[in-house]
Amino acid sequence: MRDYPPLISSFGRRRGRSLPAHKLKLAEELLPLIQIEMPQTQIQNLATVFASVAKSAESSIDPALWLCHPQDDTIYRAFHLEIGFGAGEHLAAMAAANPDIGYIGCDPFFNGVGNLLVMIEEQTLSNIRLFVDDVRLLLPFLPAQSIAHIDILFPDPWPKPRHHKRRLVNQELLSQLATLQPAGATLLLATDHVDYGAWMLEHVLAHADYDWSSQSHADWENPPDNWVQTRYQHKTTLQGRKPLFIKCVRH
Ligand SMILES: C[S@@+](CC[C@H](N)C(=O)[O-])C[C@H]1O[C@@H](n2cnc3c(N)ncnc32)[C@H](O)[C@@H]1O
Repeated sequence: MRDYPPLISSFGRRRGRSLPAHKLKLAEELLPLIQIEMPQTQIQNLATVFASVAKSAESSIDPALWLCHPQDDTIYRAFHLEIGFGAGEHLAAMAAANPDIGYIGCDPFFNGVGNLLVMIEEQTLSNIRLFVDDVRLLLPFLPAQSIAHIDILFPDPWPKPRHHKRRLVNQELLSQLATLQPAGATLLLATDHVDYGAWMLEHVLAHADYDWSSQSHADWENPPDNWVQTRYQHKTTLQGRKPLFIKCVRH
C-alpha cells in the first residue's frame, strides 16, 4: 500500500450531544457486529482477506468474508458505498429496497451512526457494514473494481476559500474511487451549494476516469428514480435551496 500524506479533515465533528440509552445500547451491541474496525490490525486483516479472495475468485469479493464478518453468507450481486451518510436515512432506505446489494456506509459522526443503528434494528437490515471514520482510511483496503455505485450526498461545503482544502471531493479522492469502480459503474455527487457544485463539476470534468454526460437541466436538477431525501437535503430544501445532482460514469 502506498503511504498517504496526513489527511486534512473534511468533517466538522465526531460527536454531538450524548446519545440516549437505546442508541448507546445499540452502539455497544449491534455496532460491533457490523462495524469495519480500526485499529490497523483488523483493517490489515481485511486487506489480507481481500487479497486472497482477489487471487482465488472471479468475483471481487467473497460475500462469506464480507468485511470481516464471516457469519454473513449472503450472495450479494453488487456492493455500493455511501460516503458521509449523516443520519443514515438514505443508506437505510437503499439497503431495505435492495437486499441483494451489500452497502458500505462511512461516516465519523457518531450521533448519525446512532440514528442509523436504530433503523437497522427496526428494519432488521443485514446488508449494511459501517466504517465509523474518515472514508479515506478505508479506501486503500477495498479491492479494485469492487464497487458498482458510490454516493457522496451533500458533503460539507467548506465555503470559505481558506477552507477549500478541506473539501472531500478533489482529484485525489476521485482517483482513489476510480480504482474501486469497474467500467460502467456510477458515482453520484450531490450538493445544494452553488460554488461547491461548480467545484465538483470542474474536478469531474478534469478527471480522466469519469464522464459526466448530462444533456439538460432535468438531468442535474433531479435525483435518480426512487430517491429518498437525506436529512440535510430536506433541511436545505425547506430553506429554498435547490440541490444539484452530478451523475458520473466510470469509463
Ligand atoms: C453535511 S453532512 C451530510 C450528511 C448526509 N449525506 C445528508 O445529506 O444528510 C456531511 C457528512 O459527511 C461526513 N463526512 C465528512 N468528511 C467525511 C469523510 N472524510 N469520510 C466520511 N464521512 C465524512 C460528515 O461527518 C457528515 O456527516
